Amino acid sequence: MEVIIRPDAESATHLAARVIAREIRLKPKLVLGLATGRTMERLYRHLVETHRKDDLDFSLLTTFNLDEYIGLPPDHPQSYRHYMNHHLFDHVNIDIRNTNLPDGMADDIDAECVHYEQLIRDCGGIDLQVLGIGRSGHIGFNEPLSAMFSRTRAKALTPTTIEQNAPLFADPREMPKRAITMGVGTILDSKHCLMLVTGAEKASVIAKAVEGPVTSMISATALQLHPDCRVIVDEAAASQLENKEYYRWIFENEPEWQEFQ
Ligand code: F6R
Repeated sequence: MEVIIRPDAESATHLAARVIAREIRLKPKLVLGLATGRTMERLYRHLVETHRKDDLDFSLLTTFNLDEYIGLPPDHPQSYRHYMNHHLFDHVNIDIRNTNLPDGMADDIDAECVHYEQLIRDCGGIDLQVLGIGRSGHIGFNEPLSAMFSRTRAKALTPTTIEQNAPLFADPREMPKRAITMGVGTILDSKHCLMLVTGAEKASVIAKAVEGPVTSMISATALQLHPDCRVIVDEAAASQLENKEYYRWIFENEPEWQEFQ
């Protein structure tokens, strides 16, 4: 795992967008794993801007989102399909047929989960998975006690996650209590992982995720087992990391990061 600390949310997000843009340019047929949430809104703004100003080409990309609420139709303003169209897909030259999210309205949710895993396999696996972290320590909607080898499945959301996301709904009681999510094992199968974490309210959980023991109580700790995972944080989110100076030293001295300094 590599931890990169940037001064503020804007520069952390800018760096994450540059890393993603570089991967897309290196491999135009990239299979990109995507996340939703408040942190990602800023990231998608940067990617849209890179598309507009620097011609970043999304036309050959395939995307797989981590999760979707069960019971929300795609046109519901809080569905993750709606979120992705609104924040990214409607503003770049992606072929919408190559954008995938689990179908939270499927009659047979278990079959939909198996189908989603198969789709990912059929595309040759995810090259780069973008991740945020929830206050419960989740990645995707892998809530505490998610098995390290879990695959795409339905998950009940924790009270912490419901409290985190319910204010985004016009009527907070409308927030579904279950979602389909890629499993921790599905995420660990991605070739590269890139986690973006900003804001002081994430400081405690990201310190546990990066420096704490690996535990299924905090699904993000599983990323310590991934061979190629980068975590980009701002100073506020980094405030409880014990080894900040070491992470800064690596970032400043690692040749691969020179082009991003
Ligand atoms: C959603 C997802 C979640 C979010 C996490 C952080 O697709 O993958 O794990 O990344 O809940 O959300 P924000 O950025 O709203 O704090």
